[in-house]
Amino acid sequence: MEIVICRTKEEASRKAADMVAALVKKNPKCVLGLATGSTPVLMYSELAKDVKAKKISFKNVRSWNLDEYYGLAPTHDQSYRYFMNANFFDRIDIKKANTHVLNGLAKDWRKECAAYEKAIKAAGGIDLQVLGIGSDGHIAFNEPGSSLASRTRLVSLTPQTIKDNARFFAKASDVPRHALSMGVGTICEAKKVVLLAFGANKADAVKAAVEGGMSQFCTASALQAHNDAWFFCDAAAAAKLKLRKFYAWRSETVLASL
Ligand code: GLP
Repeated sequence: MEIVICRTKEEASRKAADMVAALVKKNPKCVLGLATGSTPVLMYSELAKDVKAKKISFKNVRSWNLDEYYGLAPTHDQSYRYFMNANFFDRIDIKKANTHVLNGLAKDWRKECAAYEKAIKAAGGIDLQVLGIGSDGHIAFNEPGSSLASRTRLVSLTPQTIKDNARFFAKASDVPRHALSMGVGTICEAKKVVLLAFGANKADAVKAAVEGGMSQFCTASALQAHNDAWFFCDAAAAAKLKLRKFYAWRSETVLASL
């Protein structure tokens, strides 16, 4: 794991965007794994600026998103498909047909999830996976207790996640209780991982993921076994890391050598 610690989320988002942009430039046909939540929004804006400035193009990029609320139509304004269109896809030159989000209305969720995994494999696997992190350390919707070998499947949301995500809905009871989500095993197969974490309410999750034991109780900790995983944190999210000064110094050297 490389931990990049920045003063602000703006700085961290730009650095993470640089990493994604470098891959898109090097391999214009790359396969991206994408995330929702408020955290990656700034990074998506930075990438949209790069497209506008003609520095990069997503014309031949294909993408697979991490998860989708089960029971929400893609047109629902809180669905992750709607979110991706509004915050990223409609602002760049990607072909909509090349973007994939699990169908929250799939009647046969097993078939939907198996087909999703098969499609990722057929595309050659994910080159770079973008991630946020839940306040309990989850990635995608892999809540505490998810097997670190889990694959794309139907999952249940914890009361904590329902509470955290209630801010996007009119009331907490409107938050779906289930989702379709890539598994931890699916995510860890990505060749490169870029996780973003901002704000003090992510500090415990970042600490557990980076310096705690690898455990299904904090599914982001599975990335400890990944050989190309990057955490881009602002100062508040990194505040509880014991070795934060060391990580900051080390990542500067590593980033400069890329
Ligand atoms: C949801 C998503 C995660 C995301 C998390 C944190 O649970 N399924 O992918 O990382 O929310 O969201 P935020 O970035 O808004 O804090």
